[in-house]
Amino acid sequence: MIRVLAVDDEEPFRRLLKKELARKGFYAEAAPDGGAAIQRLKDESFDVILLDIVMPGTDGISLMKKLKADPATPVIIVLTGKATIETAVEAMKHGAYDYLTKPYKLDELVIVINRAYEYGKLRVKKEQFEQELLRKESEPEFVGGSGKIAHILALIRKIAPTDSTVFIQGESGTGKELVANTIWRRSGRSSLPFIALNCATLSENLIESELFGHEKGAFTSAYQAKYGIVEVADKGTLFLDEIGEMPLGLQAKLLRFLDSGEFRRVGGNKTLTVDVRVIAATNKDLTEVIRAGGFRQDLYYRLNVINIAIPPLRERKEDIPVLASHFLKKYSRKLAKDISGFAPGALDSLKLSPWPGNVRELENVIERAVILCEAGKIGPEDLSIPFTPVVLEASGNSTLEEIERDYILKVLQESNGNQSKASQVLGIDRKTLYLKLKKYGIDEPAKR
Ligand SMILES: Nc1ncnc2c1ncn2[C@@H]1O[C@H](COP(=O)(O)OP(=O)(O)OP(=O)(O)O)[C@@H](O)[C@H]1O
Ligand SMILES: [Mg+2]
Repeated sequence: MIRVLAVDDEEPFRRLLKKELARKGFYAEAAPDGGAAIQRLKDESFDVILLDIVMPGTDGISLMKKLKADPATPVIIVLTGKATIETAVEAMKHGAYDYLTKPYKLDELVIVINRAYEYGKLRVKKEQFEQELLRKESEPEFVGGSGKIAHILALIRKIAPTDSTVFIQGESGTGKELVANTIWRRSGRSSLPFIALNCATLSENLIESELFGHEKGAFTSAYQAKYGIVEVADKGTLFLDEIGEMPLGLQAKLLRFLDSGEFRRVGGNKTLTVDVRVIAATNKDLTEVIRAGGFRQDLYYRLNVINIAIPPLRERKEDIPVLASHFLKKYSRKLAKDISGFAPGALDSLKLSPWPGNVRELENVIERAVILCEAGKIGPEDLSIPFTPVVLEASGNSTLEEIERDYILKVLQESNGNQSKASQVLGIDRKTLYLKLKKYGIDEPAKR
């Protein structure tokens, strides 16, 4: 039933409206002025307000101004005796949906109310849609321009809806947690918790009670029983970060848990069961750890149902421009700066860095550049890329000049023979580079 609130200062008119609307099948209530209307709206929800403009106390326009801020405001139809163009324009300006003059024709009023009601429903849908869009936009996104990332994204799409255990490998800062989070968000478990536990930060005893909980009195400081993370994450997703650091003693219990969903709290003798999807990650080569006796092979097999290996950033330089633009957008929005892109040279020097800290390091460099940037574009001077020198295999008796020569050659190779790029990396101007090349007899630019 459509719920209508009629706001009018004339008592007989209110009574008439209420009666007629009820006869037409609406739920109708009335208020004598704006103040009373606001009170009514607090107690009850309405779809449509029929609003008089001139009233003692809070008049129609003031009421609309007050209601405007609230997105759940009913749709407003102005129904007034004093029909001037000015008041009509004024009312529409303040968000009225339609405008009728007294005396009204009942049939016409009914049509307008029905239309206003439909409009209100659409408005709510639009609102929800925009909220959803905003939420989606602010979600962290796993991006990249390389075939390697496209492959990982395709894999994520395929495996996210399943309950399979996923094992993610990659150097520090390559996006392991982001991948785990993306899998969870695209799974049927996205409305239930995603909980991360870093296995490297806790001692063996603590990690077991964090994971599986403990009973009161299980150990000296266990004054109260405590839920384990697996219980909190029930029906959700558990991210076990740095799984290579999981103490050996606990690995057997974890294996049992992965197989059956069963576990016991520390100090407890009851077997409990939960339904948790596990995603594990490591930046170590687990096969090495297994060989050294630090990790159970059977657990490794159990975890490794689906394997996602994220390559280091230096092996997928095509991702750098895409990631750099992604972070540029993220931080210009966050810091409210109007930066349109990268000046020539800036992207080149980003591509030249070896990025030992991977994507995390690139993100930090871009964040800092956005803060420092005073122009409309990020220039090379805004990028303070931590310089990791090219590794040289200098023999013990190389002279300083030989080392310099080899070094210049390496950098030139890294820059595909582009001398201006190379001089940037070397921190010397192009003329100096030219002179050094002449001195060392490197006249052919070293191309890869
Ligand atoms: N492909 C990507 N697209 C967008 N952002 C990324 C991408 N890869 C990494 N990032 C960002 O880089 C930062 C580091 O990522 P994350 O924390 O997931 O790395 P990690 O592999 O878990 O690192 P660590 O081993 O040090 O824990 C995060 O801010 C993440 O959002
Ligand atoms: Mg991580």
